[in-house]
Amino acid sequence: MNHWLNTPLTEALGCRYPIVQTAMGWVADANLVIATTEAGGFGFLAGATIPSDELEVQIRKVIDATGGSNFGLNFHMFQDNANQCVDLAIKYRLRAVSYGRGPDKQTIARFKAAKVLCIPTVGALKHALKAVELGADLITLQGGEGGGHTGGVPSSILLPQVLAAVNLPVIAAGGYATGRGLASVLAAGGCGIAMGTRFLMTRESPTPAATLERYLKVSDPQQVRVTTAVDGMRHRMIENRFINHLEQAGPFGRLRIALGSAWQWKQQTGMSLGHMASVFMRALREDPSALSQVVMAANQPVLLQRSMVEGLPDDGILPSGQVAAAISELLSCREVIEGIANEAQQCLDALLVRSQASAEPSPSNYPASVGEPQ
Ligand SMILES: Cc1cc2nc3c(=O)[nH]c(=O)nc-3n(C[C@H](O)[C@H](O)[C@H](O)COP(=O)(O)O)c2cc1C
Repeated sequence: MNHWLNTPLTEALGCRYPIVQTAMGWVADANLVIATTEAGGFGFLAGATIPSDELEVQIRKVIDATGGSNFGLNFHMFQDNANQCVDLAIKYRLRAVSYGRGPDKQTIARFKAAKVLCIPTVGALKHALKAVELGADLITLQGGEGGGHTGGVPSSILLPQVLAAVNLPVIAAGGYATGRGLASVLAAGGCGIAMGTRFLMTRESPTPAATLERYLKVSDPQQVRVTTAVDGMRHRMIENRFINHLEQAGPFGRLRIALGSAWQWKQQTGMSLGHMASVFMRALREDPSALSQVVMAANQPVLLQRSMVEGLPDDGILPSGQVAAAISELLSCREVIEGIANEAQQCLDALLVRSQASAEPSPSNYPASVGEPQ
């Protein structure tokens, strides 16, 4: 029945449907991953924002609830807990890891030895090629319409580019929330879709009600726009009072806000001054212009927390894909996954029926201008 939906993704990740719930800071927790796994999708825990003393607990919670390690962990090498994420993914033989700025070849070799699949997320063709060179097993591409940090190339351009250039299973992310979207990716040669915003807007999402209300209120995709004001990188989010304030603050105002957030983050995580200084010094050595970005990057966890944990949507940032404007209700993860799978199945079945009909010539298949067959 689901023959269209058995793809290299379902084979590699051992899930029923070619649908991935991506990592989202403060959102993709154990409960969301459990709900996704139980509904037949594949979920990633957002390792970067789970406190160090809780990460292993969350991993074990998913294993206990789902009876296995068929889920993934997301991390970024530049973050404090990156090595802990690497060690835990290997210790528990998780099915996969995902990351943006990738680990080096030695770390990837450790994952391969433990049979943990490496699925980097890329936002441009050149990053896809680099990821292949470093040893990716599958690739997720994220089109510019996607939520959070995002590139500038839309999925409709990036997907065919990457499919033509790499010989690995390709998962498409950025702008997907429907079965029609999944059908289009499978028809193009992709192996599945990955979604952030759609899973954020579910009933199992830990996001506070006041914040979810803001996501549901978005009706125009252009209200979900890119800013570089938070950490110097392209970041797509819902426009709100905080973002407008930050953008209007100017370089010194922004630095003041960034330093305040960095200090708050230090207090929360117990990060030592020595560690903070070493991060700053490394940024200075690698690229002096990156110093302000490093400070600004410290904004992100705190600003995310205000909206995503404290439920203050105007005081923090609201990372989101433009697809939020096309989502009008909170569904359960099961409703999302099964609804998308069924719709994709119907689209692809209909395509097959149309192609079979056109392969069997009958008078009605010929446009009037062609005339009747001889
Ligand atoms: C609230 C939010 C937080 C995110 N946090 C992360 C993160 O911590 N790590 C990461 O790799 N991607 C993160 N992303 C990007 C998503 O994993 C995913 O690639 C993106 O949402 C896909 O686009 P879509 O929103 O159109 O589905 C985040 C996205 C959102 C909306």
